[in-house]
Amino acid sequence: MRVLVVGQGGREHALVWKLAQSPRVEQVFCAPGNAGTAQDGINVDIASGDIERLVKFAQSEKIDLTVVGPEAPLVAGIVDAFRGAGLRIFGPTRAAAELEGSKVFAKELMRKANVPTAEFCVFDNVEAAIRYVDCREEETLVVKADGLAAGKGVTVCSTKEEAKDAIRTVMVEKKFGEAGNRVVIEECLVGQEASILAIVDGTTIVPLAPSQDHKRAYDNDRGPNTGGMGAYSPAPLITPELMDQIIEKILVPTVHAMRSQGRIYQGCLYAGLMITNQGPKVLEFNVRFGDPEAQPVLMRLKSDLAQMLWAAAEGRLNDIQPPRWDERAAVCVVMAAEGYPGSYRKGDVIRGLEDAAQLEDVQVFHAGTLKQGDQIVTNGGRVLGVTALGETIPQAKLRAYQGVKCIRWDGAWCRKDISDKARLQLEQLEQSEG
Ligand code: AMP
Ligand code: GLY
Repeated sequence: MRVLVVGQGGREHALVWKLAQSPRVEQVFCAPGNAGTAQDGINVDIASGDIERLVKFAQSEKIDLTVVGPEAPLVAGIVDAFRGAGLRIFGPTRAAAELEGSKVFAKELMRKANVPTAEFCVFDNVEAAIRYVDCREEETLVVKADGLAAGKGVTVCSTKEEAKDAIRTVMVEKKFGEAGNRVVIEECLVGQEASILAIVDGTTIVPLAPSQDHKRAYDNDRGPNTGGMGAYSPAPLITPELMDQIIEKILVPTVHAMRSQGRIYQGCLYAGLMITNQGPKVLEFNVRFGDPEAQPVLMRLKSDLAQMLWAAAEGRLNDIQPPRWDERAAVCVVMAAEGYPGSYRKGDVIRGLEDAAQLEDVQVFHAGTLKQGDQIVTNGGRVLGVTALGETIPQAKLRAYQGVKCIRWDGAWCRKDISDKARLQLEQLEQSEG
């Protein structure tokens, strides 16, 4: 089959890399892609938001399956457009993508379906939102812009003043534009986080191996939020018993509730969870693979991804074998450009990629990179995701950082503690249990 991946980050490189391994796949295209996707597939110079041109490309190149990486085209209706043109595509329709596109929609769906999540209220009026904060007993609250805000619309506030500032930023200053017409104000949950990704065909749910990302910019989870500075899989916090609970109490009722609203969910369903003392609760849903979670998860996947996504797009997930996993752990360390997550420079020459590629069980996924003549240069804030397998999480970590050491450019940096929280989380878990 001929496959098209839409997007240009580290997640998309991991998707292209994995799909290209399938014996069923003849060619993988990536639009617009990066220097890494150009090595494992063929880049097509069409932006991920240009749905009309993507449809035309898929028709003229006889693409059998399209896989969408980022949320924006999904929320804009890329799946509806492809289906309307008779093209097979893996991802939720615009109506189903509201699960990520509107936090208000997601929270109300969870409330109706009895899916555990933080207590919340919705406001479309600044004064009412501020009055609500004033009336609350607790100081800590979480303020969320309703719509898409590139992962920056959530503020975890430790004082009422901070919460009120966050409300004003979203609703008055309109920092995220229309996304801030409404806010969700919710209870602050305490616990450990984990990401559960599942492949869904509308009815059948196939959970992937659990993972954990690192959203804060600096070591020990300090500094501003980012798109994700690293990830690992498995997440030892998610025991098989807990996974059963997550499937039964979160994934099944959510997919079922979407179906009964006539918003059949087909695609990757990403549940961002907080594991609290009262069990797992949903922080957010995303309607796509996580970035950088996809990198370690796909590196551990032994089964044929193309077969799985094809079956999901056809509503036939039930017909295929459950995914098989490499028992080893995988750790992905994101290398970023100087200044990220603030403004950063582009165009620095990246050296040492060949040396890193020589290392056994190391895979360098490109994110913000561009090929310029014979050289590969930086072209984004998150530049690379150096991912490695190891017998244990610490061994995978060691190997990933060996890969990082091979690579350099002016201003390159990364967190030094990716995956350390796996150990800390287990210690805390043991303490709370015993
Ligand atoms: P989101 O974009 O909704 O995943 O939020 C980004 C981050 O904010 C999450 O990964 C959590 O660390 C944090 N967060 C979101 N909602 C809550 C909550 N109700 N309680 C505590 N932390 C939260
Ligand atoms: N790693 C978080 C996300 O993909 O949204």
